[in-house]
Amino acid sequence: AQIKQVEFVKSSARARDCPKDNRPEFAILGRSNVGKSSLINALVRKKEFALTSKKPGKTQLINHFLVNKSWYIVDLPGYGFANASQSARTDWSSFTKGYFLNRDTLVAVLLLVDASIPPQQIDVDCANWLGRNNIGMTFVFTKCDKIKGGKGKRSDDNIKHFQDLISKYYKEPPPWIMTSSVTGLGRDELLLHMSQLRNY
Ligand code: GTP
Ligand code: MG
Repeated sequence: AQIKQVEFVKSSARARDCPKDNRPEFAILGRSNVGKSSLINALVRKKEFALTSKKPGKTQLINHFLVNKSWYIVDLPGYGFANASQSARTDWSSFTKGYFLNRDTLVAVLLLVDASIPPQQIDVDCANWLGRNNIGMTFVFTKCDKIKGGKGKRSDDNIKHFQDLISKYYKEPPPWIMTSSVTGLGRDELLLHMSQLRNY
């Protein structure tokens, strides 16, 4: 399940510009600033592989990264970017929804949810949209390192609350993994999970 080699392939502005070689892929989706690019860097063990930023909205295109010359990780623009213009937001939803609905090689969406804050309605809405459209999904809770010491229970509470909000929309709740890009928590579990979904 380990990553031996990874290369950036291309950035695409539209679903129809994405690579056409039929390799399986996983899309990294989540609110702006949730830690998508950081998670990719942690997975591939390279500090500045996918661009990260304190400023939300850094990732604006569909970015394909080829792993072990056999499957893709796809970094997507974050949603809920408060400072985006209305037209930029409309672009986001049309091109990203187009990608999800038309990308036959998509194995699963990794929906990133910030475990250090209470559940956000936009994440619940996103999970429900994916569920309604029968798109396979795994919840990846991020920033699990942020809650330490005496407040150690809070991320668990946030995660439980989020799962409760989602549960009425799913007969079988989607799998979930707790991660931190800072400590590396969940990295191996997530890689194993993805290899099981790919069947190799
Ligand atoms: P956009 O590309 O703007 O959608 O953001 P993104 O989801 O790619 O987030 P990014 O990886 O750029 O991270 C946003 C901020 O959160 C950065 O300041 C990161 O250092 C921080 N961050 C990301 N992951 C973690 C984590 O696991 N723990 C902690 N403590 N901070 C994190
Ligand atoms: Mg990013």
